[in-house]
Amino acid sequence: MKISVVGTGYVGLITSVGFASLGNDVICVDIDSKKTDMINKGTTPIYENGLEEKLKSVIGKKLVATTDLAFAVNNTDVTFIAVGTPSKESGEMDLSYVKKATDDILKICFAKKTHQVLVIKSTVFPGTTESLMSDVPKNVSFAMIPEFLKEGNALEDFFKPDRIVIGVNDKKTFKILEKLHKPLNAPIVKTNIRTAEMIKYASNAFLALKVSYANEIGNICKPLGIDVYDVMKAIGMDDRISPKFLNAGIGFGGSCFPKDVNALVYGSKKIGYVPKILESVINLNKKQPLKLVELLEKKEGALVSKKITVLGLAFKPKTDDMRDAPSIKIVNALLEKNANVCVYDPQAMENFKKIFANKVKYAKTLIDALNFSDTVMIITEWDEFKDENIYKGKKVFDGRKVLDKKSTANYEGVCW
Ligand code: UGA
Repeated sequence: MKISVVGTGYVGLITSVGFASLGNDVICVDIDSKKTDMINKGTTPIYENGLEEKLKSVIGKKLVATTDLAFAVNNTDVTFIAVGTPSKESGEMDLSYVKKATDDILKICFAKKTHQVLVIKSTVFPGTTESLMSDVPKNVSFAMIPEFLKEGNALEDFFKPDRIVIGVNDKKTFKILEKLHKPLNAPIVKTNIRTAEMIKYASNAFLALKVSYANEIGNICKPLGIDVYDVMKAIGMDDRISPKFLNAGIGFGGSCFPKDVNALVYGSKKIGYVPKILESVINLNKKQPLKLVELLEKKEGALVSKKITVLGLAFKPKTDDMRDAPSIKIVNALLEKNANVCVYDPQAMENFKKIFANKVKYAKTLIDALNFSDTVMIITEWDEFKDENIYKGKKVFDGRKVLDKKSTANYEGVCW
């Protein structure tokens, strides 16, 4: 099939490379020519495990990047909109990019003779897609297909999805999108547009809830001398609960969970319902990173001028993404207490520098970071931090259960 994808961020680029790898002819579009130039040269503007290799195998053959939206729409039958929906201060989503992209595509479609399916892939509050459908040419139909990929595992999630949710308001559109997704051999959930939008929010909010739940139980376990991982392992053996997303620690970050739960809270309040459970998920998560700093102070005393090594900055391993990363709160708290901080991350150093500039020291290697200080905080569970031997003689404050308590002296875990 011939498809176009508007937006070359995480979702847009994976969608483009993924569908191109399945044999479709894909045109991806971005307003930023630096990004489209990079993509056409086979280089990814973002870091994602295995993506560059896959991009190289399809670029110029099954995939091309352009800034020319009209070219992309006029030469394809299905257009995905995968532009950002950042959060405003209030928690409300900023829909301006989605609206602008839709308006621009519709203008092009008014002059187009053939049928065009417009698929919203960006996460949007229920009712949003329908609100874009007021002045639409007859040859255009809409759909909403939420994305469930995880950063760091995005390609695998694309090719082996647990399910594909296709939200449509008519059969013809469903048939086209069913055909496009069939090669992925995953269960397809056919639903209406509004429900598809809600499925995405409810899914992310539930996963965030699981993490905050594990953290809440962990906060109770710590003073009682219980390892919350032993507890979660046992409760996760119940099929109804499942062991996934029960890893307690310093809370969830990233571009999705905090933003989506906030948007769901904001949207529910707007229609007159206060979602207390979701508010608690957010409130607990705001404080969770600081638990590790509290623990450090409790054990080490005042942090003024104290040398501290911070290992791991990205919001999770295998990404360079710093958006809403717990490390930001932790390093800010350490700096407020006038500690002397040295940081290290295998991928996220450049993005971290954009936030903290010269307020901290940047270690070139893991060994340099460890040589800086005997007090080490582990914030992200990168594999290279898992070797216990590198922490000999160190006091370790672990925010992600990277090490096993029993085999490491001078060790404190945030919830265990
Ligand atoms: C999340 C969802 O998992 C995806 O299904 C969804 O498509 C995506 O948001 C999105 O809406 O685009 P992602 O943000 O990439 O994916 O990352 P996750 O792997 O879900 O992790 C989110 C945060 O939760 C990370 O900071 C992670 O460290 C934390 N987490 C996760 C925990 O603290 N404990 C856990 O047990 C699991």
